[in-house]
Amino acid sequence: LGHAILCAERAIGVEPFAVLLADDFLIGEASGTTADLISAFSVTGKTQLSSMEVAGPDIANYGVIIPGDNPNAVSGLIEKPKPEDAPSNLASIGRYVLNHSIFETLRGLEAGAGGEIQLADALHIEAGRGSVEAVPFAGKRFDCGSVAGYLDAILEVSGRG
Ligand code: G1P
Repeated sequence: LGHAILCAERAIGVEPFAVLLADDFLIGEASGTTADLISAFSVTGKTQLSSMEVAGPDIANYGVIIPGDNPNAVSGLIEKPKPEDAPSNLASIGRYVLNHSIFETLRGLEAGAGGEIQLADALHIEAGRGSVEAVPFAGKRFDCGSVAGYLDAILEVSGRG
């Protein structure tokens, strides 16, 4: 994911930008998840993550938030920790509003979890500078990276969920 975002640098330049992971299919409430992130960004100018509570060992499938000292603050992000090492039950899900500073941070990274350049590792560094916040996701999420999640999403939009 980190490498994919770096590939977009020439198209984005020095603007803030949104990243939507297509395998996270979200049916949000009210104005929509990305719109909520953009609103929060417009208030503080900080990077915004969408977050969701995940119970039990499934937390190991996500970038996991180290909460900061106020409700939206993020002090770090750990990519796919072992369940026993997870710093919270708050997962980062596939919507982000990022500052262009992320490109420089990504360029400085070594490969992380799974031998890949991880966005979560760059966000961890930026969170250490106090420049990352999370917005709780309200709605239904389908993980279309799994067969079951993909089929559930189809059933939901067909009205049979
Ligand atoms: C990616 C991110 C991870 C995030 C997840 C959300 O992982 O690397 O931090 O929690 O999306 O779906 P992937 O699911 O691509 O392995």
